[in-house]
Amino acid sequence: MTKMVVTPWEVSGKIDYDRLIKEFGTQKIDNKLLRRIESHAGELHFMLTRRLFFSHRDVDWLLDKYDKGEKFYLYTGRGPSGHTHIGHLVPWIFTKWLQDKFNADLYFQMTDDEKFVFNPELSLEETNKMSYENALDVIALGFDPEKTFIFSDIDYAKTLYREALKVSKKLTFSTAKAVFGFENSSNVGQIFFTSVQSVPAFLPSVKAGKNIPCLIPYAIDQDAHFRVCRDILPKLGFYKPAAIHTRFLPGLKGPESKMSASIKDSVIFTTDSAKDAKKKIMSAFSGGAASLEEHRKKGGDPDVDVACQYLYFMFEEDDEKVKEIFEGYRSGSITSGDVKKMLVDKVTRFLENHQKKRERAKKKLDKFILTD
Ligand code: TYM
Repeated sequence: MTKMVVTPWEVSGKIDYDRLIKEFGTQKIDNKLLRRIESHAGELHFMLTRRLFFSHRDVDWLLDKYDKGEKFYLYTGRGPSGHTHIGHLVPWIFTKWLQDKFNADLYFQMTDDEKFVFNPELSLEETNKMSYENALDVIALGFDPEKTFIFSDIDYAKTLYREALKVSKKLTFSTAKAVFGFENSSNVGQIFFTSVQSVPAFLPSVKAGKNIPCLIPYAIDQDAHFRVCRDILPKLGFYKPAAIHTRFLPGLKGPESKMSASIKDSVIFTTDSAKDAKKKIMSAFSGGAASLEEHRKKGGDPDVDVACQYLYFMFEEDDEKVKEIFEGYRSGSITSGDVKKMLVDKVTRFLENHQKKRERAKKKLDKFILTD
């Protein structure tokens, strides 16, 4: 078994989510909190009931404020190092649901500066361009143009830099080093960067001239940034942002495999052709027994089977169907080939639809983008 690593720049090994809750000092989402969310939203998203979103920071505080009439806004983002993959969509789909249910504004940060300073192979022009490619995926998910503000760090730098400086003044090198593992050889752009990712957690408060609660949905890999951010914001007179964390959609090569654009066929991109996506799915890691006969006799493990997991995370919203598929897979009446075929159908339909919306989003970009 490989060692678990969960940092903003690397996720690998078998992920023990309970251990992460302890190590990162977050709170488990319990039934009480789910009921509270449900009472406001009128229903629960399947990503909550299936416990994909499993952990949080201060969402109960956020709802206390909400109950008293203080509305919150949402903040999330993307590091535009390449095309969007399906895993990135998990927090974004959930963020869209939150926007709809709570009628909340969304600030969406494209960290083209981060991807430039952390990736020796990428130029600033490339990461900046990719911000707008990735923005098309965000828009294609149907966010409200009146309430959604997408910005590239580079192209919104005048506004962001003023505020990032204030964060950076409260952040010592020794803290950055302890939290992120920087070394003397790390470039200073990397060391400064977390100040920039902190800014959207209070920027709307600066603009409004009063504190507005903020909720940040993300996969738990990004948490280190927000631990730092939550320590510093009260020192600047702002609320700590609340956060809600999802698990990781596994890479196609198996539950312990990394989802990485640099590992061939480990991810499905939103820009993949249906043919390529099918090829990737058909060669994905399977949780079935070694032979078909053995699988029919003994069954397989849907908790590690990639196709079963993709249906669970995103592509099969119907709980009854998921139950049927998982039970069938466990008993052996449904094979790995069967679930892969189901997933290919779902992903093909999803990609066709998403790519059409992505194309239409090109005309709508202006409505969403903030620059200064
Ligand atoms: P990035 O581009 O690495 O990831 C974008 C979002 O996708 C989540 N994510 C995943 N979720 C589920 N399954 C996966 N396999 C998976 N892989 C990635 C990430 O947690 C993230 O939410 N520095 C950030 C960009 C950023 C940001 C933010 C993210 C700026 N501000 C605020 C979240 C919240 C980055 O490089 O994300």
